[in-house]
Amino acid sequence: MSDTEADNSGTTDPGYRRLSGLGRQIRGANPFAGDIVPSRIPIFARRTGRPTLPFPHPWNYQDPIRVLESCFHGADDIEGPGRHSRYLDIPGFPPFLITRDPGLIRAIMLETGDRAGQFDRDVLPFVGIAQATGRNTLLSSNGSAWRRQRKLAAAPFGKTKLFNLERFGEFEETFRQTVTTRLGALRQRLADRGEKSVQICLEPEIKCVMLEMLTNNFFGAEIPYDELRSVYVPALERVIEHIVRDTVLGQLGVLGRGLTFLRSRRKSFKGDNAIFERLTSLVTEGRRARRGLWNQFKADEVPDDALRGNLKVFLAGALEATTSYACWAITHLARSIEDQEKLYAAVKDINQYTPENLKKAQYLGYVLDETLRLTPSLYFLPRQGTADVWVQTTDSRRMFIPKGVHLLLDVWHANRHEDHWGVAKTGHPALDFVPQRWAEIEAREQVSKDLMHFGFGFGARICPGQHLGQLETALVVGALVKLFTFKAPTTDYQANAGVSTKPRDGTLVDLVLR
Ligand code: HEM
Repeated sequence: MSDTEADNSGTTDPGYRRLSGLGRQIRGANPFAGDIVPSRIPIFARRTGRPTLPFPHPWNYQDPIRVLESCFHGADDIEGPGRHSRYLDIPGFPPFLITRDPGLIRAIMLETGDRAGQFDRDVLPFVGIAQATGRNTLLSSNGSAWRRQRKLAAAPFGKTKLFNLERFGEFEETFRQTVTTRLGALRQRLADRGEKSVQICLEPEIKCVMLEMLTNNFFGAEIPYDELRSVYVPALERVIEHIVRDTVLGQLGVLGRGLTFLRSRRKSFKGDNAIFERLTSLVTEGRRARRGLWNQFKADEVPDDALRGNLKVFLAGALEATTSYACWAITHLARSIEDQEKLYAAVKDINQYTPENLKKAQYLGYVLDETLRLTPSLYFLPRQGTADVWVQTTDSRRMFIPKGVHLLLDVWHANRHEDHWGVAKTGHPALDFVPQRWAEIEAREQVSKDLMHFGFGFGARICPGQHLGQLETALVVGALVKLFTFKAPTTDYQANAGVSTKPRDGTLVDLVLR
């Protein structure tokens, strides 16, 4: 079996596995098999120009995208399956598979779920989040516990529930009022100062609007905007910062565990978490009055406490993801005035974001898709093998993945690689922001399974907040483009990555009144 020697003996004895695993690791044999045989990542590669070590350590853990990049250092010189799928094998630890092959990412996501042998979400990266939310949530559970959580908490976010015409109208209107009021106030601030333009970091503004839409419009809480802005957003930011530290250190799985001494022990975490608890309680109050979408939550017999963890996941996670999504869209548009104007033309006459109007504003859809492709909010998706399995891609390539392997589905690098999204496949360079590429893909009727950006995930664990998040982001970006033109002071941009990715400059733009 050359360099490839799969341990598919079928035994499940962990002692045997550990020993045979160690034997294999010492022999340097590849634990994977099939058509997709990943190449091995050298642990040390001195004088090769590799950006950093291919796992987190005290000097690189704040830049996880660079760590992932290092996993693929030199891989572009490889022909064959080892080019886009690689593995890290450190004696004594389960192997890590890191893939930027969209076909394989799709196959693994499709095989993730609660059926026997399916992949789990690897929860190690979420130990930090679980500290704040508890483990019994959609994010941190697997198997039947996850299925229960999904039934309990995800239904009200579904497309049919949310886009039910009557209900949608109600939400769209309150969301739109919120966005218009907040962005309108920004406009007024400029006008009052007699200024036509200002340089501003938009991320804090967007974050407050996103939280207000979620707490007050969606969940029917009645929290004054100033309190959201001065108390809850800053506390949530600090909780998330704490989470990030734990997330990033845990994200390459067991390797991050050794770095626990770096994890935040700040006393303030307790205080901030107490504020987060208070916010969650305010949000649950809407339930008793059946305000907002609360009457959609199926199981009235389910006590608030059973939903609490998920509510915290929604509040912190959704705030992060929607802020990231909108900030990236604005970042790209601020560097392409032509696209900004095309978007303005598409939305200028839209006063209501009904499903039909959203469909009509095609360019807005292209801008949002291109944003999630080029700068996905969730930059990698973690999985873990629960059994020895074979997976198969739609083009019939097969891969054997042994039990216990940690899988990092590197969406960030998959979506930015010329092989998958470049000129040959889409007519435009992969690293360029070109919303128009989606119109061309549509015109060529390329099937969606070939060109997927995984911005909301895929398969059974797909994002339940997709439609809500898409609507909120469309409203914020659409409203901003209608009120202002905006230009970035630089042509390039950098990404920060923690729980999600964000523009490093806080979405700094020169904002000019239209
Ligand atoms: C609009 C921006 C958003 C983006 C880009 C986004 C992205 C994602 C992605 C990629 C996943 C899949 C993770 C995986 O496969 O491991 C996911 C899952 C999830 N998202 Fe979102 N999300 C967004 C908004 C929201 C909102 C608004 C909510 C809720 C209010 C939400 C709640 C969740 C939850 C609970 C999960 C876990 C689902 C499960 O494991 O069954 N997300 N999200």
